[in-house]
Amino acid sequence: MMTLSETAVAGPSFELTEEQRMLQDMVRDFATSTLAPRAAAYDRSCEFPHDNVKEMAELGLLGVTVPDTYGGAGMDTLAYTIVIEEIAKACASTAVIAAVQNSLVNFPLMKFGTEEQKKKYLPKLASGELIGAYSLTEPGSGSDAVAMQTRVRKEGNKYILNGTKVFVTNATGAELFIVYATLDPELKSKGVCAFIIEKNYPGFSVGRHEEMMGVRASGTSELILDNCEVPLENLLGTEGEGFKIALATLDVGRLGIAAQAIGIAQACLDYSLGYAQERKQFGKAIATFQLIQNKLVEMAVNIDAARMLLWRAAWLRERGQNFTKEASMAKLFASETAMKAGIEAVQVLGGYGYTKDYPVERYFRDAKITQIYEGTAEVQKIVIARHLTNPA
Ligand code: CAA
Repeated sequence: MMTLSETAVAGPSFELTEEQRMLQDMVRDFATSTLAPRAAAYDRSCEFPHDNVKEMAELGLLGVTVPDTYGGAGMDTLAYTIVIEEIAKACASTAVIAAVQNSLVNFPLMKFGTEEQKKKYLPKLASGELIGAYSLTEPGSGSDAVAMQTRVRKEGNKYILNGTKVFVTNATGAELFIVYATLDPELKSKGVCAFIIEKNYPGFSVGRHEEMMGVRASGTSELILDNCEVPLENLLGTEGEGFKIALATLDVGRLGIAAQAIGIAQACLDYSLGYAQERKQFGKAIATFQLIQNKLVEMAVNIDAARMLLWRAAWLRERGQNFTKEASMAKLFASETAMKAGIEAVQVLGGYGYTKDYPVERYFRDAKITQIYEGTAEVQKIVIARHLTNPA
């Protein structure tokens, strides 16, 4: 029979390493003491939380997996998911800002960038001097991402981009944008190119800011590309490689959204459990009633199951194995878990849960977006079904 340490070598361990545990404690302290007290105000004002972002940068949370040679913390995928979960327990807006920076911006630069691009941008992203955003979605192209209409043409020593992008997380706070455009929509996925665009490039502007149901401080806005001029050296990857870059990036991004969803769900459980132990009805704490216990139990089991799915996907990625299906499974299940937990947490608090005096109505609203962005629940099912019916 294998010992626990031998099974840990043979497969994933259920224990965090010392380094991961220290990271978790540090981020939990920071999130509880600094982010949580500000979360309701940011939710109301919809302002981009520059102070949160600056403090996350100082703690190294904006370059978690960036190698130390480029100024990052050089940690692994599991560490990254732990960071996002802990931040999301306190403030879901701040969590998605960090998730976008780490996975949708740092990752494609690390994986597909030239040495010059990495040297130029990664240290500034890891230090928080630059905040990044990722821009794929358009008014007419959401789940069907390849149907984008934003066009690019080469002119002399520049690329010229024209089009409108929407629902760009971080846009109001960002200085650097990974933007996708097509050479010709007829070429479908083979025509898509990825670009690194600095905010001050001619023809680039941030458009209308979205006032949303949840993650209201995430700076989500549209982008306008009006004959936007991009230097040739700011093509990311090769011409026509953009769609693969977009989807490979989303594989990593979906781990971050799963972690965000787990953090929101855990916040729902923690708050409603504490409340149920205090709140008395019929002469007893409501936590003693089986119907309330049932809600708490469902939350707890689903959160653990979601976390295991996420940690498996992170583990596969660290081993260099394909994790596309597992990332979609984790994102799908974690986002459903967050939504159910939001509904039940409000229910446990009853009338109080429906007011802004308690945080659970915010958790409920924040949970919904995890079933929509970085691929809807329906898109995750498409991805999983394709892998089931056509395994690699
Ligand atoms: N990694 C790398 N390449 C991949 C890939 C992956 N995970 N999945 C597919 N590809 C490749 C395929 O191999 C194929 O290449 P070839 O043509 O060389 O064979 C190419 O990409 C096209 O693949 P598909 O034919 O599968 O493409 P499709 O048009 O059928 O689309 C889809 C598949 C899964 C529906 C995809 O379009 C998708 O994920 N859509 C959702 C998009 C999304 O998540 N948008 C969210 C944007 S970000 C956001 O939410 C806002 C924010 O700021 C956070």
